[in-house]
Amino acid sequence: MLCPLEPAVRPAAEGPRGRRTPPSLADPDVARDPYPLYRTLRDGHPLRHDEPFGAWLLSRHADVRAALADPRLVAPPPGRTFTHLEQGTHAAHRALVSPGLQGRALAALRAGVERAAYVLARRLVRREEADLVEEFCRWLPSAAVVAALGLPHEETARVAAWSRTDLTHLGAVPAGVEAALRPHIARRRAHPGGDLLSVLCTARADGRPLPDEAVAGLVATLLGAGGEATGRALAAHLANLLDHPAQLALIRARPELTDAAWAESLRRDPAVHLVLRRALAPVPVGGGTVPAGAVVACLLGSAGRDAARFADPDRYDLFRADPGQLAFGAGRHRCLGVPFTRMIAGTGLTALLAALPGLAWAPGFRPAPEGLLTRAPAALLVRTR
Ligand code: HEM
Repeated sequence: MLCPLEPAVRPAAEGPRGRRTPPSLADPDVARDPYPLYRTLRDGHPLRHDEPFGAWLLSRHADVRAALADPRLVAPPPGRTFTHLEQGTHAAHRALVSPGLQGRALAALRAGVERAAYVLARRLVRREEADLVEEFCRWLPSAAVVAALGLPHEETARVAAWSRTDLTHLGAVPAGVEAALRPHIARRRAHPGGDLLSVLCTARADGRPLPDEAVAGLVATLLGAGGEATGRALAAHLANLLDHPAQLALIRARPELTDAAWAESLRRDPAVHLVLRRALAPVPVGGGTVPAGAVVACLLGSAGRDAARFADPDRYDLFRADPGQLAFGAGRHRCLGVPFTRMIAGTGLTALLAALPGLAWAPGFRPAPEGLLTRAPAALLVRTR
């Protein structure tokens, strides 16, 4: 699936004075490699209406950041996830969830995430070759978010399976997932603990507890974000490091570089390539004006490669002098999982490097990133010794 707006694909057309107009985001070739289109858009079409895709495209770093921070641009319907909330309820839900994903709560989770990373990495030790997507990236983030919520460890397999098919980062909450969460909610309402699910189950909004449906929605959002987006981001990160063995060797020698490497992967190859907004009013941006009611696609994948913001933007460089990225969005909806994902990626990489001293691509293997809304290699075939 390319886009929730179900675009029809059309070929690129001749523009004025024979200049070819850029292809649509809905073009299957663009999904295979969106970066040439991103460059064309940034260079000559900073605000472009992409009719087949059904949205106005913003591609420059400064414009994407401005759009994400603009209160006149809100998440388009349908949907009832976090990003669809605004103002009072949105602030209240952020205030509920964010303490469970940072500071002391995050520190308390570290040992469990390290253990999960260690077990997953050690399973690969006796193997000649392994697929890190199948055997590592799909599992570690699910295990981490299950632990953060205080769900039983045995739920990890179910959450990992949901992340493949049912749950996406900030996508809709399927009825089956909601039903499966209800017994856990009932248990936590009866016996609250110190975990994030208990916080949600005991929270009060306007003097009343959050209804089961609201708790299930929040939990499913966190499971989807934790599983799908983080798994894909981890896969893209490992691909970058395996493509740059000298930088990988440096991280082995100097583990304090781990976080910089993660940030650089998020800039160059973010897991979430675009977020959609709808204009509540005419919004001047990108040198033009988005009309009221229009849908805007903020191209995070393009923003990270903007030469006006990053020197030599296609290069992977963990010593980058101009770091920074919009991979987690910006403004009032900026991702709540930022420190959590850093911890997952850091512990994951540390465990893999400790367990697999000869970690490198399997002979002849090249990663093939796929997807446009979220993007990452579908497989990472490596030799382990
Ligand atoms: C590397 C992995 C991740 C990436 C790339 C990512 C990316 C994003 C992006 C781009 C947004 C902004 C969406 C928008 O503005 O419409 C967002 C929002 C959000 N993310 Fe993540 N995310 C990741 C992991 C997580 C994790 C692990 C969690 C929690 C367990 C999480 C929870 C959320 C929540 C709750 C929001 C909505 C915030 C709001 O609307 O106020 N994310 N994320």
